[in-house]
Amino acid sequence: MRFNRKDILGIREMGSDEIELILDTARSLRDIITRTIKKVPTLRGRTVVTLFYEPSTRTRTSFELAAKYMSADTVNISTSTSSVRKGETLKDTARTLEAMGAEMVIIRHPVAGAPHFLARNLRASVVNAGDGMHEHPTQALLDLFTIREKKKRLKGLKIAIVGDILHSRVARSNIWGLRKMGAEVVVSGPSTLLPPESATLGVKATHRVEEALEGADVVMVLRLQLERQRKGLFPTVREYTRYWGINRERLRLARDDALLMHPGPFNRGVEVSSDLVDGNQSVINKQVTNGVAVRMALLFLLLGGKPDEISR
Ligand code: CP
Repeated sequence: MRFNRKDILGIREMGSDEIELILDTARSLRDIITRTIKKVPTLRGRTVVTLFYEPSTRTRTSFELAAKYMSADTVNISTSTSSVRKGETLKDTARTLEAMGAEMVIIRHPVAGAPHFLARNLRASVVNAGDGMHEHPTQALLDLFTIREKKKRLKGLKIAIVGDILHSRVARSNIWGLRKMGAEVVVSGPSTLLPPESATLGVKATHRVEEALEGADVVMVLRLQLERQRKGLFPTVREYTRYWGINRERLRLARDDALLMHPGPFNRGVEVSSDLVDGNQSVINKQVTNGVAVRMALLFLLLGGKPDEISR
């Protein structure tokens, strides 16, 4: 299959064949990360810019490392030290970067649709690194990669996603991706944090976390955004942990070989108990490593690489 996209804006518009191609390409590239010399010449001379209007550790660093491992030149724009502080618009900032030779702009923005707006206004490729409450497609791709690697399939698995589903771009992208790949998804959290359109998204929603966990192959825990409490969406953090926190006793409801996942950053002892984060069912660090491989695959495919041309 040929990869014909200029941009990666969301999982919603992707086909299952495209998702497979990205995951297969990531698998071919992942060895590079474990070598002593982590460098291939594949993207030598190509220029990639990260433009983040929100904080990030994992996404931004893994894109930067992915580009460096493939010999691309990278520039990170921090909005706190750029002309964004002087009122420069998103479009003007991005066009300025393009005029300097950027061939790809990786953007995180608090407003849903900001990457789509840039994609319409730039010749450069645009990658959505998280837009508001809308999508975080590269997180979902690395989650799919991790599940497929561990379980050898996606089709037919039961995936429980627990937490603040309503405000989570990670949940939304994962729901699209998992459903396209044939998995069953059940979401759980306080009723105030469950999206009203769950049925439209093709998932079952329940405020009883035990129901979601029963027989699950994968338990994906989301970060509790503590600021939601100020908005009255749940009474106290302690009560949240009591009813929806994932601890050893609750995890026993899932299959014995269930994977525990979290996109990070996590609040230890709030949405997930600290012992589980470090326990043998946790694949949280694997997700981080796989994030580099998946982002290498996206850089490679978007910048015109063909899967049979991967340099080793
Ligand atoms: N999962 C995730 O997007 O983490 P960062 O905010 O650290 O990039």
